[in-house]
Amino acid sequence: MKALTVVPLKSGTAALSDVDEPPESDGAVLVETLAVGICGTDAEILSGAYGWAPPGRERLVLGHESLGRVLDAPAGAAVAKGDLVVGIVRHPDPVPCANCAVGEWDFCRNGRYTEHGIKEHDGFLSERYRIAPDFAVKVDPSLGLLGVLLEPTSVVAKAWEQVERIGNRAHWEPTRAVITGAGPVGLLAALLGVQRGLEVHVIDQMTTGVKPDLVAALGATYHTGAISGACAAPDVVIECTGVGSLVFDAMEHVGPGGVVCLTGVSSGGRELSVDAGTLNRSMVLENEAVVGSVNANRRHYQAGADALAKADRSWLERLISRKVPLQQWAQALDRSPDDVKVVVEVAAE
Ligand code: BGC
Repeated sequence: MKALTVVPLKSGTAALSDVDEPPESDGAVLVETLAVGICGTDAEILSGAYGWAPPGRERLVLGHESLGRVLDAPAGAAVAKGDLVVGIVRHPDPVPCANCAVGEWDFCRNGRYTEHGIKEHDGFLSERYRIAPDFAVKVDPSLGLLGVLLEPTSVVAKAWEQVERIGNRAHWEPTRAVITGAGPVGLLAALLGVQRGLEVHVIDQMTTGVKPDLVAALGATYHTGAISGACAAPDVVIECTGVGSLVFDAMEHVGPGGVVCLTGVSSGGRELSVDAGTLNRSMVLENEAVVGSVNANRRHYQAGADALAKADRSWLERLISRKVPLQQWAQALDRSPDDVKVVVEVAAE
């Protein structure tokens, strides 16, 4: 079968390869891949900056944002032939650490977790894959191709869960949230904020294109510039860019008792000058919290699937800016500034 593969840590190595059918040892559920979304992590892997091949192998099958149809599943499993499913990206470490042992692999303590399409585990950008029943999440069939948005939605569902758990350390009645970045993660974070009944402000650099319209269509407000000009004293900031100056802007301008959740993975190498004392003083005197959040466990996939099921389909459709057939995969990796989510279509729905 065909698969899009890459040699991790070497740029320019992506190729459509012939690979073996998935072995039964990968899991009892056989899935036909329908579509795979491309994100910043894939771009990093393609640039040679990130990624690990499976042990003893040179090439890694790319792709962690998947949508597939079950071709075969054991009797009694939670998924059955014909279901639309998304594969959970991270697998627990083999030790397992205390967190992986209870299904919280998103909080793996020893770093020995594996991730489909990213770290030591083949991704989903192949015509078929196998997975254990517990790692396949069913999506509402009426979502169709839009189910490919579940993985990034699981990441923001986890971020919102973290924010709420921290907020609830005290009496917590949030009203205003700022989301920095109107890429897929930022827009989905905004969707979940609106679904919670919050006044949501989204900040991005783009002044034209679909992003301002997508934010307005949600009932949220779009801004360019700094947080202070967008919203006074937000209760929540979900930072989705990884841009250092925005990270500090969020820490400085979050409101009293507020929570800043960092979800963007920065590349590093840029220095900023910060008045650490003043920042510390206001964070202490106002009980503010900053938390990093990565990946998602099964609970977050379920929360993400519920959020997508109740979202406006036409709004979700507009997040998918381009669908590229597998044979033309190179076009999917070539991102234009106005792209939101680009998806590789592997098989017809
Ligand atoms: C994925 C996560 C993953 C992270 C770090 C993100 O793009 O969505 O599932 O944990 O990259 O590898």
